[in-house]
Amino acid sequence: PENLKYLNISGTQIPKLTTCIPQTLEVLDVSSNNLDDFRLKLPRLKELYVSKNKLKTLPDAPFIPNLVALRISRNKLTSFSKEEFGSFRKMETLDAGDNNFICSCEFLSFIQYQEGIANVLANWPENYICDSPSSVRGQQVKAARLSLFECHRTLAVSLICILVVLVILLIVTLGYKLHVIWYMKMTWAWLQAKRKPKKSHNHVFCYDAFVSYSERDSEWVENLMVQELENAIPPFKLCLHKRDFVPGKWIIDNIIDSIEKSHKTLFVLSEHFVQSEWCKYELEFSHFRLFDEHNDAAILILLEPIQEQTIPKRFCKLRKIMNTKTYLEW
Ligand SMILES: *[C@@H]1O[C@H](CO)[C@@H](O)[C@H](O)[C@H]1NC(C)=O
Repeated sequence: PENLKYLNISGTQIPKLTTCIPQTLEVLDVSSNNLDDFRLKLPRLKELYVSKNKLKTLPDAPFIPNLVALRISRNKLTSFSKEEFGSFRKMETLDAGDNNFICSCEFLSFIQYQEGIANVLANWPENYICDSPSSVRGQQVKAARLSLFECHRTLAVSLICILVVLVILLIVTLGYKLHVIWYMKMTWAWLQAKRKPKKSHNHVFCYDAFVSYSERDSEWVENLMVQELENAIPPFKLCLHKRDFVPGKWIIDNIIDSIEKSHKTLFVLSEHFVQSEWCKYELEFSHFRLFDEHNDAAILILLEPIQEQTIPKRFCKLRKIMNTKTYLEW
């Protein structure tokens, strides 16, 4: 009929509305059907009832520009935006309760701060319940609060990434500054030494002393000390790395062998030796047992005065023996 104004086809299980619905309608009730969208052009429509259907969004406002009341409760509406809501210029009542709302940050911030929303939404706030995210499931849309992390995920993730990178950088820098690698090697050497069986005491000595010195002090050692000791009466037999090390063997093995084959070990200490050579011995200190309480196999010769502050803190053995044992000063 051309002049039809009221049409009620609720509860008729229709799945779809077609253009045979007259454009003159002012009130249309299609609730309790199987509709999943609403796209009719009804310029005069004032009241629309679509509750208990399967609509996922609000109908398009430009098709029904004069709508005053819309009932869309118990559908599959998940949210609606400020723009969709605002495009119904004459809307006085909107019942969108009992839908499964996705309470996103945008939806919450729009609906909680929209002025006069309580006057437009019917059954507000008790019928408007969040379905997701899980942190606010079951809470009223009006009262639901999302954490800062949920609302600014990208920002939060970037911040966490930056923080993690900074912490790693800090750890690496600290590790470098505090010589962590050194201490790890030290612990490793110490563990190795603990597992090794104690060496027997009846092995052969080939030298009187093994001399450890820095290349910078080689002139003094080779031209003066070695000459004096090896030409003494009776002569001392010295082990020098340049002369007596077995070619092709690991340096550290050579050092260990030489120390084990010598009655004493002479350390010619200078600033340079402490800074560049000492680390070889300190690392292996537990193997040598050179500096144990009841062992006086180590003899220290100070070529130049060495301030204790200039000895790196990690060389604790050297600091200790310089404090507790007498040394020869040149
Ligand atoms: C449409 O018909 C149903 C069933 O009779 C009734 O409950 C409902 O109120 C009617 N809708 C309107 C808008 O009057």
